[in-house]
Amino acid sequence: MEHVIDIPKTRKEYMEEILRLKKEKNAVLLAHYYQEADIQDLADYVGDSLGLSRKAAETDADIIVFAGVHFMAETAKIINPNKKVILPDVNAGCSLADSAQPGPFKEFVDAHPDHIVVTYINCTAEIKAMSDIICTSSNAVDIINSIPKDQKIICAPDRNLGEYLIHQTGRDLLLWDGACMVHEAFAMDKILDLHKEHPKAKFIAHPESTQNILRISAFVGSTEKLLNFVQEDDSEEFIIATEAGILHEMQKRVPHKKLIAAPAKDDNTCACSECHYMKMNTLEKLYACLKNELPEVDVPEDIRKKALVPLERMLDLSK
Ligand code: 13P
Ligand code: SF4
Repeated sequence: MEHVIDIPKTRKEYMEEILRLKKEKNAVLLAHYYQEADIQDLADYVGDSLGLSRKAAETDADIIVFAGVHFMAETAKIINPNKKVILPDVNAGCSLADSAQPGPFKEFVDAHPDHIVVTYINCTAEIKAMSDIICTSSNAVDIINSIPKDQKIICAPDRNLGEYLIHQTGRDLLLWDGACMVHEAFAMDKILDLHKEHPKAKFIAHPESTQNILRISAFVGSTEKLLNFVQEDDSEEFIIATEAGILHEMQKRVPHKKLIAAPAKDDNTCACSECHYMKMNTLEKLYACLKNELPEVDVPEDIRKKALVPLERMLDLSK
């Protein structure tokens, strides 16, 4: 007898099934702006890291499906120990999170006992558990400014965000040497050539980019702030230095404006400014993940409890 596997066949069928399963299972789909367009369109909420953490803290769904990378799903689990948190591809990691491994990070923190540890949300639960306050690119300046001036600060793991914060706050931050492979890969020569072709375009960038890129930027901000900027600014053209997935939501908000993704160096995996970790989540994997409620993201309870403290500090400071 022929064995028929009942799975969707077209993208439309996948999308319909995802919506049906989401409702049936009382699941909420949270997606980052770097996810592929169809996943963003299916999501109950699309946002930056701060917005996504806030939504994870508010939800009354039974299941959180995180269309993002592993540290984001882990953050949702830290906040919601009693909910099931699932991630379409459990290998969707982050080069920045990988740059801070628990052993060396502990040595670094232990070597500077007079410093408090402000950690960017792009890190593992174990690193969060060794931190005093978490920040995102949306609130990092405010978080640093909320700390008394005479208090020494470690800022980790992104050295580019760290240097940007030193510049913005005038504080002497002790930086960890990590970076995002996508934001490090923007090609200055190609950006300058592109600007010659589009002289009226405003160049805007994410603070994970290198200092030479930030120095030529008309505006620097998190994904959410970049979105707001193109809506509020009078310019009709923009070159945007962050992961190219953001252009989907941006173009929806400003359909009449010309938006160009900043090009990456040729030695980057695709020279297309895409994060291959973010793009590991596909419609097919999202469907399978919701149907089977797998892969599940879990955090050991002792680490979760410690990691929750700096995360709650951040959420309290960002109300
Ligand atoms: P935000 O969306 O918070 O700006 O973060 C960008 C990023 O690189 C997430 O991995
Ligand atoms: Fe990590 Fe960079 Fe990808 Fe964001 S864009 S998930 S920081 S590697």
